[in-house]
Amino acid sequence: MKREARMIIDKDYVIGEVDDKLYGSFIEHLGRAVYTGIYQPDHPTADEDGFRRDVIELVKELRVPIVRYPGGNFVSNYFWEDGVGPRESRKPRLDLAWTTLEPNLFGLNEFVTWAKKVGTEVMMAVNLGTRGVADACNLLEYCNIDADSYYSNMRKSHGFEKPHNIKYWCLGNEMDGPWQVGAKTAAEYGRLAQETAKAMKMIDPSVKLVSCGSSFMYMPTFPEWEAVTLEHTYDYVDYISMHQYYGNRDNDTADYLAMSMDMEQFIKSVIATCDYVKAKKRSKKTMMLSFDEWNVWYHSNEADDKIKERKPWSIAPPLLEDIYNFEDALLVGLMLITLIKHSDRVKMACLAQLVNVIAPIMTDEKGGAWRQTIFYPFLHASAYGRGMALHPILHATRHDTSKHEDVSDVDAVAVYNPENEEVTIFAVNRSLDGDVSFETELRGFSDYQVLEYIVMEGYDLKAVNSAEGENVRPAAKTDYLFDNGTFTANMKKCSWNVIRFGRNK
Ligand code: AHR
Repeated sequence: MKREARMIIDKDYVIGEVDDKLYGSFIEHLGRAVYTGIYQPDHPTADEDGFRRDVIELVKELRVPIVRYPGGNFVSNYFWEDGVGPRESRKPRLDLAWTTLEPNLFGLNEFVTWAKKVGTEVMMAVNLGTRGVADACNLLEYCNIDADSYYSNMRKSHGFEKPHNIKYWCLGNEMDGPWQVGAKTAAEYGRLAQETAKAMKMIDPSVKLVSCGSSFMYMPTFPEWEAVTLEHTYDYVDYISMHQYYGNRDNDTADYLAMSMDMEQFIKSVIATCDYVKAKKRSKKTMMLSFDEWNVWYHSNEADDKIKERKPWSIAPPLLEDIYNFEDALLVGLMLITLIKHSDRVKMACLAQLVNVIAPIMTDEKGGAWRQTIFYPFLHASAYGRGMALHPILHATRHDTSKHEDVSDVDAVAVYNPENEEVTIFAVNRSLDGDVSFETELRGFSDYQVLEYIVMEGYDLKAVNSAEGENVRPAAKTDYLFDNGTFTANMKKCSWNVIRFGRNK
């Protein structure tokens, strides 16, 4: 069977502006994300604050615009006051989410300082598990207020005269999940989030707030959770959160690579639910989506259970250290394409997470930092996926998998960056069975030429990178044709493709 894909992109077929915050990420007090990840004072590359410079360099390479902190499940029993002020007086605490010990040597001021160094914005989460309105207010006052008030003065006494001015705030984390400390029913959470949001906006009307959506699409309470909670929070918040992880648990790669279709369905369902509440409330406001946890997560599950059984309450054990292979990079590419395709409503997203914990960047406590396979699709999207997302008019041959029907062999999207006059196509050939003859017509870009064609192709699907070397990395491809505005190439089976065009200057 001949496999083919024909795509048209047109400068006028705009989906929407891609918000830079689509390429955000996440650092949780979990495993080695903080300790021996971003913070390791005894590491040879540590700077004056104890931050690993090798990690800072890799994070900068990814150009991450916003990083969510400090959790995740961790935040639902976190006492932020434990992590500020003189280190000598900070106390270790039990972290119930991950059965570890939090030494509190790194807290919010260290994170804000680190974020400045890497050139990223902070997205802070408040504890709505075991705490509530008052504590969220105190934290916001500590972070954002310049007044002669208790928490504002406390921040100043800790050496931070100027407020941190943190704009983006999550109202708790996965509050629908039975595993969450202080989990709530939709009605309970809706009321609490509404009152917290109301009070936070009284303190600082410029903050942007994220209401908790379902922990993942297969929660039994999805999408009723969204409908009920938004009834309470709709007028007070700016985003609703989405979380989703995938894994090739059955070693069925064809089906695994179709899972981005589920992600797309999830996004469409959340949009529909938001718009239902909008209609019901006769509101003029459109709710935006913050897909603030997404990735592949399954490789480390078994190992993590053993670690927790063996050693409860240890500091920074190696939890959730998924080692990603080539097929994971392909799915991450497909998930990025899905996010870009919905960038008119998904205005923020966080690859979960950033360092060591289900992360594109890994560290060796006694050695260097290195890039996982998934680092690259994220890097390409973050570098070239800013601007206007263009509707891909795409006709491709299709296949069925064990659990998905009518799967397009190729999924693709394009982003036009008017500032630097570039267009980039991101495409994955997810067919396991054959190369695809790929053709794209560029309309409205008559004086453009190919700048480069980057691929990740030809690797063993299970090939991984490690501290010893990067087996899986991008390469430049030169066997393509570009004639009269039409680009053609043989797109290898199981490949990640980034085709960059720029205006003839
Ligand atoms: O990212 C790891 C965990 O996944 C987060 O703590 C939680 O929010 C989600 O379940």
